[in-house]
Amino acid sequence: MMNRLAGRVAVLTGAARGIGAAIAARFVEEGARVVIGDTETAAGEATAAALGGPEKALFVATDISREADAEAVVARALSAFGRLDIMVQNAGIYPLTLIEDISVAEWDAVLGVNLRGTFLAAKAALKPMRAAGYGRMVFTSSITGPRVTSPGHGHYGASKAGINGFIRSAALEFAPYGITVNGVEPGNILTDGMKAGRSPQFIAGMEAAVPLGRLGTPREVADAVLFLASDDAGFITGTTVIVDGGQLLPESRLAREPDAA
Ligand SMILES: NC(=O)c1ccc[n+]([C@@H]2O[C@H](COP(=O)([O-])OP(=O)(O)OC[C@H]3O[C@@H](n4cnc5c(N)ncnc54)[C@H](O)[C@@H]3O)[C@@H](O)[C@H]2O)c1
Repeated sequence: MMNRLAGRVAVLTGAARGIGAAIAARFVEEGARVVIGDTETAAGEATAAALGGPEKALFVATDISREADAEAVVARALSAFGRLDIMVQNAGIYPLTLIEDISVAEWDAVLGVNLRGTFLAAKAALKPMRAAGYGRMVFTSSITGPRVTSPGHGHYGASKAGINGFIRSAALEFAPYGITVNGVEPGNILTDGMKAGRSPQFIAGMEAAVPLGRLGTPREVADAVLFLASDDAGFITGTTVIVDGGQLLPESRLAREPDAA
């Protein structure tokens, strides 16, 4: 299908690479113009150029944990493309640190990007969306925190569970303005960020935990974000879509064995 986002303008944070870059590519394929907000300037500019350059995709250096940056990336979408229909807050950081070793600075950094960044993105997008009487907000949460966890995710899990709570509050408050607010909860998706922080053995263990037998791709998450950002999801608000290859289903580690029951 093509043109599901024809005429739409989207701000996509954390879209220089990984899942966010896949969302940007998927949105442009469907006719949207996008503004990529990311801390990584070289990668962000390269991603925007690969998507067709300034008429289709712009890069704005953005640290979404900072209020002025959140407002600036929205302002750029309005000045360049004249409207803002979709806000995707996808930027996230996920250092693996046991709670006993998490410093206050690291706690604040993770909560600052993942959770405060989501609040700031929503707040910045609200004004033009409310004036237009239309908006789609989609936030990248995770199964980690809201559903499951593993050692080292104390701050990350708290931030992602917080996003799910924020989604419900924002959905309720923004519904009168024609704005929907939803999220995606990816399971284990193979991205550069994921590979950088984890050993091949750890990643093999993650694959073994997925009933579909593999990690997900960024594009598979992007397809779910596209649905929630499109008019196909017009009556869906305040919820999340899990994109995890069935990872949450097994009752035991042996669930892929035929005689496990
Ligand atoms: N990869 C997975 O398995 C997985 C699973 C569940 C959830 N997620 C979530 O998906 C999102 C994307 O993850 P990914 O694996 O693509 O990560 P990634 O590290 O490959 O990409 C993240 C992007 O966010 C940018 N970023 C970081 N801090 C930022 C900030 N302060 N402001 C703006 N941009 C910033 C980075 O520069 C990068 O381009 C994150 O929110 C992550 O928590 C990922």
